[in-house]
Parts: sequence; structure tokens; C-alpha cells
Amino acid sequence: MAAQINPSILSADFARLADEARAVEGADWLHVDVMDNHFVPNLTLGVPVVESLARATDTPLDCHLMIEAPDRWAPQYVEAGAGSVTFHVEAAAAPVRLAREIRAKGARASMALRPATPIEPYEDLLPELDMLLIMTVEPGFGGQAFLDIMLPKIRRTRELIDKHGLELWLQVDGGVSDTTIERCADAGADVFVAGSAVYGAADPAEAVRSLRARAET
Ligand code: DX5
Ligand code: ZN
Repeated sequence: MAAQINPSILSADFARLADEARAVEGADWLHVDVMDNHFVPNLTLGVPVVESLARATDTPLDCHLMIEAPDRWAPQYVEAGAGSVTFHVEAAAAPVRLAREIRAKGARASMALRPATPIEPYEDLLPELDMLLIMTVEPGFGGQAFLDIMLPKIRRTRELIDKHGLELWLQVDGGVSDTTIERCADAGADVFVAGSAVYGAADPAEAVRSLRARAET
């Protein structure tokens, strides 16, 4: 699959979200980080903001829920207009049921792993998912340094996906930049979230093109 670049609006100006969403035309998805100050020590936005964003941009929304009780909340993000909803396995009570519910409501179902969560216990769940997210920083904040120690997990996950002949996408999130994206692509990732590398650039749309070019070399 061609590389997909998903700018994270966590690094955008929250007072100008509609303009910031449109500033990355050419991006595959807009990555929306939902934090509840419980699952992670930070607080961002919720369902009403996602509803407004979905109306403000044609770019599909990739909602990353860093929240407790995703079983209760994730379906509401599909109703709010998200095209993809990612829940953390560490927080989900019933990840299979939740993934099925997200799909049944019409969105892509995705599951995330924090850095200390191994992929191996979840091998049998992979067919239930449209995407797997491997965090390459501890979730909670933009602008952190990429964790190289996650590269073996990305590689092992790619092997499992290929072994089972699955179509699911493999996303990485955290510290992805012009200098780290090639390592992620080499290890087998194909969907790349980038916050500070896109919105910290003078020209965010150009930053998306640059990341895509590096991921595909
Ligand atoms: C971090 C969020 C990321 C964040 C990435 O917990 O999940 O999506 O926005 O930001 P950068 O690309 O700056 O590491
Ligand atoms: Zn994220």
C-alpha cells in the first residue's frame, strides 16, 4: 500500500481548527487526538469538536481515543463523523465487541498499543481490525522524541500481518519526522501520524509532501 500521511491536529492552533484542517490538503486523513486526563495526563477535545471538524473538512477523520472506557465512547465518535476510530487495548473492556461495533456503525476499527504493550497476545484479534496503531512515544503529548526501541515491535507486527495475509494498515504515531519516517517505513509501517513535523513547519502542506516522499523511498 502507498504510504498515508495523517497530520495530527494536536500540534495545530485549536482556535483556528477549521483553517488548520484545510492547511493540510493532500493529507490522507486528519488525526484527531482525544485525551481525557485519565488515560493520559492531558485533556484535548471531545465529540462536539469532532462533529464540527467533520463538517469543516473533506479530509476523513482518524480519531485516536486516549481515554478510559472507550467501549462506552467510541461509537459516539463514529456518529460524530469519524471515518476511523482507534481505541487503546489497555483501556478497552471488550476489544473484539468494540471493534465489531465500530465496523457495524460504518467506520474503520483500529486498536492502539502503548509502548509497553506487546503485540503477541493480540495476534488472534488482528482479523477484527482495519488498522493497528503502534505508539512510538508514550501517549499524551506532541513533540516528544521518537522511541527507536519500538522498531522491533513494528517489524514483528508486520510479519504477523503478512503471515495471516491480512489487509490491515499499520500506523505509527509519535515523533514521526523527516528523520525518523524512513525507519518506520523500513520496519513495515504504512500509515504515519505527524503532529509537530507538519504543524510546526512553515508550510504544512509541503511538510506532508516531504514526509510522503521519504516514506516511499
Ligand atoms: C501523542 C499523540 C500524537 C501526537 C503526535 O500522544 O497521540 O498523535 O499528536 O505528535 P508528534 O508527531 O509531534 O510526536
Ligand atoms: Zn495520536
